[in-house]
Amino acid sequence: MNTMTIAIDGPAAAGKSTVAKKVAEKLSFIYVDTGAMYRALTWKALKEGISLEDEQRLVTLLGSSDLNLVQSEQGQRVILDHQDVSEEIRTAEVTNQVSIVAKHKEVREEMVQRQQQLVKDKGIVMDGRDIGTHVLPNAEVKIFMIASVEERAQRRHKENMEKGFPSDLHQLMEEIRKRDEIDSNRATAPLVKAEDAIEVDTTSMGINEVVDRILEIVHEKSVKGDQG
Ligand code: CDP
Ligand code: CDP
Repeated sequence: MNTMTIAIDGPAAAGKSTVAKKVAEKLSFIYVDTGAMYRALTWKALKEGISLEDEQRLVTLLGSSDLNLVQSEQGQRVILDHQDVSEEIRTAEVTNQVSIVAKHKEVREEMVQRQQQLVKDKGIVMDGRDIGTHVLPNAEVKIFMIASVEERAQRRHKENMEKGFPSDLHQLMEEIRKRDEIDSNRATAPLVKAEDAIEVDTTSMGINEVVDRILEIVHEKSVKGDQG
């Protein structure tokens, strides 16, 4: 049980990171937010004026980047070339362009390799878009977390308002739709439910309810595993 791997995939703002973090805490597992890695590369490319369509330059940029996900008391921090960029990678500028960077095959291959190296002999919860299908195809538990686009936009809107960020619900809905479309239709490792994933529709579920549902699935799986 303490070395179990849990993959959580799903569209933007379905609640993956919030729930994955809590599940990891409850189980004393490591939590890895893979989206942060694509965001960090996007942020650096924008800063250096590199075209987000230029796959080769992005691969070179990633190859020369010291990118680390560090567990701290405030949760996962993203350290890029020794600088903490955890806040910078969450701006609308990065959010609305990250899917362009994430569609490149060679960028993804390098990211997947780096993500697989993060699996140690301890339990892990990893969230993203291709975790159950490509990064951890043998994960013991695979969750595909969804919610209606209206609900997801509402959640982000509420989050923005609470943080005092400017926010327009309809614009958010369009941005989320657009990102889902790019992520779901790219040629390499698109966002798709793994055959053996369990779908959890969180549209009318609160955070703790989703956490409990996943812990229940984990428990069922570990009991079955113990029974051989
Ligand atoms: O905003 P949200 O938390 O939903 O997104 P994220 O998990 O931070 O991921 C940002 C973007 O990175 C996604 O929209 C995908 O384009 C890309 N991504 C990916 O392609 N594969 C992953 N495993 C994780 C993220
Ligand atoms: O990681 P992902 O983009 O899938 O979503 P998130 O950033 O974890 O969640 C987006 C927002 O929805 C956060 O403000 C969460 O607190 C909220 N949320 C919610 O209201 N109800 C849930 N069942 C899950 C998340």
